[in-house]
Amino acid sequence: MTPRREIRFLLNDRPVYLSQVAASDMLLDHLRLQSRLRGTKEGCAEGDCGACTVLVGRLGATGLDYAPVNACIRALASCDGCHVVTVEHLRGTDGGLHPVQRAMVEHHGSQCGFCTPGFVMALYALWMSDPHPTEAQAERALQGNLCRCTGYAPIIRAALAMGDHGTSDPLMAEREHVARQLMAWQDGARVEVARDDSRAILPASVQDLAEVLAAHPQARIIAGATDVGLWVTKFLRDMPLAVFIGHLDALREVREFEDALHLGAMVSYEQARAPLVAHFPHLARYWDRIAGWQVRAMGTLGGNIANGSPIGDTPPPFIALGARLVLRKGEVRREIPLEDFFIDYGKQDRAPGEFVETIILPKPRAHTRYAAYKLSKRRDEDISAVAAGFAVTVDGGTITDARLAFGGMAATPKRAALTEAALIGQPFAEATLARAAEALAQDFTPLSDMRASADYRMRASQNLLRRFWLESQGQPASLEEVA
Ligand SMILES: Cc1cc2nc3c(=O)[nH]c(=O)nc-3n(C[C@H](O)[C@H](O)[C@H](O)COP(=O)(O)OP(=O)(O)OC[C@H]3O[C@@H](n4cnc5c(N)ncnc54)[C@H](O)[C@@H]3O)c2cc1C
Ligand code: FES
Ligand code: FES
Repeated sequence: MTPRREIRFLLNDRPVYLSQVAASDMLLDHLRLQSRLRGTKEGCAEGDCGACTVLVGRLGATGLDYAPVNACIRALASCDGCHVVTVEHLRGTDGGLHPVQRAMVEHHGSQCGFCTPGFVMALYALWMSDPHPTEAQAERALQGNLCRCTGYAPIIRAALAMGDHGTSDPLMAEREHVARQLMAWQDGARVEVARDDSRAILPASVQDLAEVLAAHPQARIIAGATDVGLWVTKFLRDMPLAVFIGHLDALREVREFEDALHLGAMVSYEQARAPLVAHFPHLARYWDRIAGWQVRAMGTLGGNIANGSPIGDTPPPFIALGARLVLRKGEVRREIPLEDFFIDYGKQDRAPGEFVETIILPKPRAHTRYAAYKLSKRRDEDISAVAAGFAVTVDGGTITDARLAFGGMAATPKRAALTEAALIGQPFAEATLARAAEALAQDFTPLSDMRASADYRMRASQNLLRRFWLESQGQPASLEEVA
């Protein structure tokens, strides 16, 4: 089949067709410079401040879903087949201010106004899912938005009041029409667009992805672009050829088997939360400490793992849970323990042209206690100084198995082999955990950097083992999670 040579998407109520698109072009520049929709602001250009928040709707397995995204690091090519909604499209059923905007005005949620469109769009996404959120829901929804002048209390008050100003809007009525338009565009074709020396390919299927990567093993895979986007906006890296995978529904599947969950590489943090927490309730608190809503909606499990960062948040708990990775190159698949994927700093066990297809998470094991901890300077939207995942099996009072994995303690996410050995075969007791904690000093020689000193990292990790013990005894954790 001949590839389609243009991307097309709905921008508010207008179809957009673009053939001159570079892999590195970001949605925000298109909105502000080409479409002259300047309500969407640029603050940080790195996904941190939320000033550029827009909604992107896509047809998925469950219909038309809208998610808040950071337009500054959302690749333009990845908007193919989507509905992009900017603040200009918000209006109430009477044509005036939207209920969310009215609440913001009434509760003085804006001063200089620079951050306001971003807040309004994040709140709009929340209002869509629940016009009467709790305070906890509102805080979670706004983790990815920064305001320098208003302070957050008035904005939270606006969030709690927005449902009182209305629970319907014109976009609700438009939804069917939008879905029909997006469906009509689904042609199952490979898409190839380019501008200057930068080319973007959107494969037609996972099979086609395997073929494209076999033909172009040097191509950069782009999933949610929450890492790659910054290479463009902050490091000004060239992107001669990128293969986008965000539109491939087969990679977004979560499949449940008797013994394991199979999570497609394109499953976002947000999508993964419910199935993970259903089986591993301890992950709820940990998960909500990853980035902010916008990044959680875009960032994927596959991207977090493939990026290979020593401070990525998914590897420590996933390694502790015994996760396995399915890698695919052409027609050949191989399955490896997740910990074996990380070879050294910046070096992963992935051949050119190979991609992460699935993450397999075994279901909880009998007699096993699980925990996951994240320590960072800020509670919200911050990268870990130390992250840890523990799975300790206790049978008849004796520890029969232990998997302890840490991030931020070495050049890669890594198991604490000597500490695990110090636990296995010992009674599950405070003294055992304390002795094992000393072995961490043999397992790791952490670095000092802007996030934490080596000494802090070591002591905090040892204290996490103590915390694990205290929590297993039903004692409330006395350690504060913020470093
Ligand atoms: C504001 C902000 C906050 C953040 N906070 C956190 C945080 O709290 N914790 C955390 O861990 N991370 C955080 N991140 C980093 C980032 O969100 C994650 O690493 C995310 O999971 C990356 O996924 P992605 O889909 O966006 O990957 P992309 O940026 O698309 O890709 C990342 C890398 O993985 C490769 N890749 C992607 N998918 C595949 C695949 N299927 N097969 C092979 N290679 C692939 C790409 O080629 C690239 O090298 C944050 C980022 C931002 C911008
Ligand atoms: S401009 Fe700050 S998140 Fe996009
Ligand atoms: S109102 Fe000024 S930055 Fe938020």
